[in-house]
Formats: sequence, structure tokens, C-alpha cells
Amino acid sequence: MDVPDEVSLKYCADIIKRGGTVAFPTETVYGLGANALDGAAVEKIFLAKRRPGDNPLIVHVARREELDRLVTRVPAQAERLIDLFWPGPLTLILPRSWAVPDQVTAGLDTVAVRMPRHPVALALIRAAGVPVAAPSANLSGKPSPTSGLHVLRDLAGRVNLVLDGGRAEVGLESTVLDLTGDCPLILRPGGVSREELEQVLGQVALDPALAQDHSGLLKPRSPGLKYTHYAPAARVFVIRAALPERLPEALVRLVRRARTRGKRVGLLLTAETAREFIRQKIQPDYLEVMGSRNRPQEIAARLFEALRNCDRHRLDLVYAESIPEKGIGLAVMNRLLKAAGYRVIRL
Ligand code: TXA
Ligand code: MG
Repeated sequence: MDVPDEVSLKYCADIIKRGGTVAFPTETVYGLGANALDGAAVEKIFLAKRRPGDNPLIVHVARREELDRLVTRVPAQAERLIDLFWPGPLTLILPRSWAVPDQVTAGLDTVAVRMPRHPVALALIRAAGVPVAAPSANLSGKPSPTSGLHVLRDLAGRVNLVLDGGRAEVGLESTVLDLTGDCPLILRPGGVSREELEQVLGQVALDPALAQDHSGLLKPRSPGLKYTHYAPAARVFVIRAALPERLPEALVRLVRRARTRGKRVGLLLTAETAREFIRQKIQPDYLEVMGSRNRPQEIAARLFEALRNCDRHRLDLVYAESIPEKGIGLAVMNRLLKAAGYRVIRL
């Protein structure tokens, strides 16, 4: 993606400097940015998104040195992760400094910081000359935007500017890693996998509230994760098949049953299952081929658009195929299960 010319970039950066809001592309999803050191500017983000005020924001930096102003301590583990994964989809939770306004951290004594690797995001933060607070640029509760068009659909008229940088490459948000406790803890799985983190840190724990059988029972440590999220208007069901070869037939039965009940039904499938399903010659109201089971990063990049498409096709029911919770698959399934309200059909 080309970086906008200097005049355009300065125009966008000036909006941020003057306390306005700019939506911009990152490699994960689009963000809605404002000057992170200006509490009044940050409040505009919450208003535009209709985001609950107790859900803290991630502060985005373009240079490692900017981190020192935002936190009181950078532990050795953080230094190693920064060397390896910044710029990139890894957000670190660290003890906050006095420089970070309460609006950003929702009053917590920690702050979330990341350095995105999208050239437009980096250029914008550099030109603004301040750290940029930015949540995903969707209306609260909707799937995160992975294109400029998604942002416009949610936020047109509610923000000062939308900077379009094409499709987001990763398609899911950053991994949120808490380094303030005894053991590194993943609060939200994302673009950097647990396995990659464990190679550097040894053991890395998952917030127990993320395990699906605890859903709704434990309070997540990351405030944002307690809200409904990513959910289309349709009822979404995740299908877990012990034997993937039985899936196409089962889907035929589910689609037929939905039809006889007069429901509009959609399927979100891997390429492998879709190929077999199509042979059965029954048409759902919507079929999204998310990508190959062997390339989960393709599925990650399509997932949020797929969930948005479910709404555009006015579906009542959606059946989504599960994938193994390895690598980025863990983040894919985390978002999908949330979208499904943890409704799972086991075959
Ligand atoms: O990839 C991303 O992370 C994108 C792009 C724009 O950078 N941003 C993003 O922001 O996903 P948002 O606000 O949608 O998600 C941030 C998550 C929320 O679940 C929030 O509760 C959590 O990070 N968070 C932020 N500050 C925190 C803190 N101090 N302690 C615990 N969780 C925190
Ligand atoms: Mg978000």
C-alpha cells in the first residue's frame, strides 16, 4: 500500500494534532485514532463508536522510544518481544505513566501499547508527532472493519476523516498480552500466536475467561471482552465435526430444515468443505468460502467481512465451520465463538 503524499498526510496529522478523529488502516483492522495525550480528543472516539467508557483503548506508537513516556517500567520480557514483534500485531499491557489520560485506560493503572506495521499507520503517527489512541474503527458491537468501506458504513458522519488503505492484511485484531503479573497472560488471542510467544517467553497463559466452557461465567481481564461482539443479526452456530467428511451431509440436512421453516440460511465454510457441499446441489441463501483449512491466515483475513456479509444478506441462521485452535486458528475461533454467542453443534 502506498503511503499518502506529504500534503495529504499533513492534513490528516493536523486533524489529530488539533484534537479530532481519523480512521486509518493498520495491518490487523482499521483503527479510529485521536491524540492519546489529549483526554478530550479521546472522548470523541468513545462517542463516535458508542463505546462504553469502561473499555480502555490501545495506544499506538511509531518509535520504540515513545513507549518510555507512556509506561513506568519496561520489563526484560517486553524488550525481547518488542525486538521480535514490533512493528506488528502485538499489544503489551504495562504499568501506565502519569502522561496517559484516564479516558485512555478507563481508570486502570495499566496501559495497552502497540506499534502497528502498516506503512500508512506508521506514517500518520510520525506526522502527528504524538502517540495515537485507537480502538477498532467499528460501531461498538459490530465486527472490526477490514476495509475503508466497512469503516464508512459504520462511522460516516461520526468521524473527521477516513483514510483508506485497502484491505487489512491480518484481518483480526492484535494479540493483547498482559505483562504486569507473575506469568505472561494472553487477554485476547490475535495476530501473533501463542506458540510464537511461547518460543520467546516459555510458558504463556490464556485468560481462563477465554475458554469457551467458562463463557459468561468468569469475568475477562480485558474489559472489552465482556461485551457482545462481532455478532451479526442472524443466529450463528459453530459446527464442530469430529470427522470433517461427515460435514457436507450434515449441512445439507441443516439447510433443508432451515428452508422448511422459512428461514434464510448462510454457510461460512472452508474451501475443502465447500467443494464437497456444492456437489450436493442444494443452495443456501449465502455461501462464504473463507479459505483453505491448511491456510488459516486466509480464513482470518476474511472472517470479519464474512460476518458483515451475513447482515447484508439478511440471514436468519448461519452455520460456520470450526477450524483447529492452533496458530492464528485460536484467534479465529475466539471471534467466531463470540459471534455465535458460544452456540456450538457437535457432530
Ligand atoms: O489490532 C488491534 O489491536 C486494533 C488496531 C486498530 O490496532 N485495535 C483494537 O482495539 O482492536 P480495541 O479497542 O477494539 O480492542 C482493545 C482491547 C479491548 O478488549 C480492551 O478492553 C483491551 O484491549 N485493553 C485495552 N487496554 C487495556 C488494559 N489496560 N488492560 C486490559 N485490557 C486492555
Ligand atoms: Mg474492537
